[in-house]
Amino acid sequence: MNGKFRAVVAGTGSSLPAKVLTNKDLEKMVDTSDEWITTRTGIRERHVAEEGQGMSEYASAAGRKAMEMAGVGAADLDMIICATVTPDMPIPSTACFIQHQLGAKGAACFDMAAGCSGYIYALAVAEQFLVSGSCERILVIGAELLSKFLNWKDRTTCVIFADGAGASLLCRGDSDRGVLATILKADGSMADFICLPGGGTLHPPSEKTISEGLHYIRMRGNETFKLAIRSLEEVSRDVLRKAGLQPSDVDLFIPHQANRRIIDAVGSRLGFEEDRVFVNIDRVGNTSAASIPIALDEAVRAGRVKRGNALLFAAFGAGLTWGAAVVRW
Ligand code: COA
Repeated sequence: MNGKFRAVVAGTGSSLPAKVLTNKDLEKMVDTSDEWITTRTGIRERHVAEEGQGMSEYASAAGRKAMEMAGVGAADLDMIICATVTPDMPIPSTACFIQHQLGAKGAACFDMAAGCSGYIYALAVAEQFLVSGSCERILVIGAELLSKFLNWKDRTTCVIFADGAGASLLCRGDSDRGVLATILKADGSMADFICLPGGGTLHPPSEKTISEGLHYIRMRGNETFKLAIRSLEEVSRDVLRKAGLQPSDVDLFIPHQANRRIIDAVGSRLGFEEDRVFVNIDRVGNTSAASIPIALDEAVRAGRVKRGNALLFAAFGAGLTWGAAVVRW
């Protein structure tokens, strides 16, 4: 104990839709190939939700598992933060739907839109409420159903993005475990690199926005790619320095699963051997804000995270936003 409260991750959970879409399936839908997708992205298959399903049911399922692992009941939650860019609907926040589904009446609820960096942003915000003493237990969820906003004729996006939810139950603790440092960054001048232009106040939904395809996600992938590698390396080094650690102290690097080539490049620049980098993009695809909490849950349940381990999370995405966090397990 160093006299300071910390935000301790006491439980993790994740939930993926049952339906799996393979690269071979995509070959039948759009001009692409298994070989292109595998070598350029590392993705082999991804999970996609069914028609009529909303994001909240996956978010709640992930949240329930995190609460079970932590031994925390719904009545004990002070706050639910849902990091997402694919809410159930624009009003109200999906966190409110999740609260109702979990039976966590009274918990404060809001969504956080920070693209693929959403989980890191939500973690950093939750940490502030916990270390200040304002909250005792916060459920942080990253959840997306990106498939609902994909143009299945646009091969530059539909092969990459996917659906899923991950959750972390954070408790206020007084040990040396927990969130050690976070850094959040953004540059709005590149907002058009990854965007979904329609459906907001600038382009409210209309026949015109539909016919022009403004309700689909767009990405300038190649330009984003180079920026992502540089920014992820820099923010990872900075957050480790802030935590008083070196890259050599990191036991497991859990990066946003955007592209296998980005993960490999950042991992090698930071000097991480393969077994210090967690990768599930081959099975899960790019689930934006859900990707780190899903990966964390898989790593925890696979026994790859041990008490006392130093974990490094780093993400980059729409905004543009990026950020990183160091957690002592
Ligand atoms: N199947 C086959 N060919 C495809 C394709 C697909 N699914 N998608 C694009 N191509 C083609 C392009 O049309 C282009 O063809 P051309 O050379 O004839 O013009 C060629 O492949 C190369 O395209 P490019 O966009 O340069 O490929 P890339 O190597 O940059 O890979 C991404 C594309 C999207 C996979 C990659 O840029 C990426 O992952 N970007 C970063 C994404 C990111 O980090 N986002 C932020 C977090 S979500």
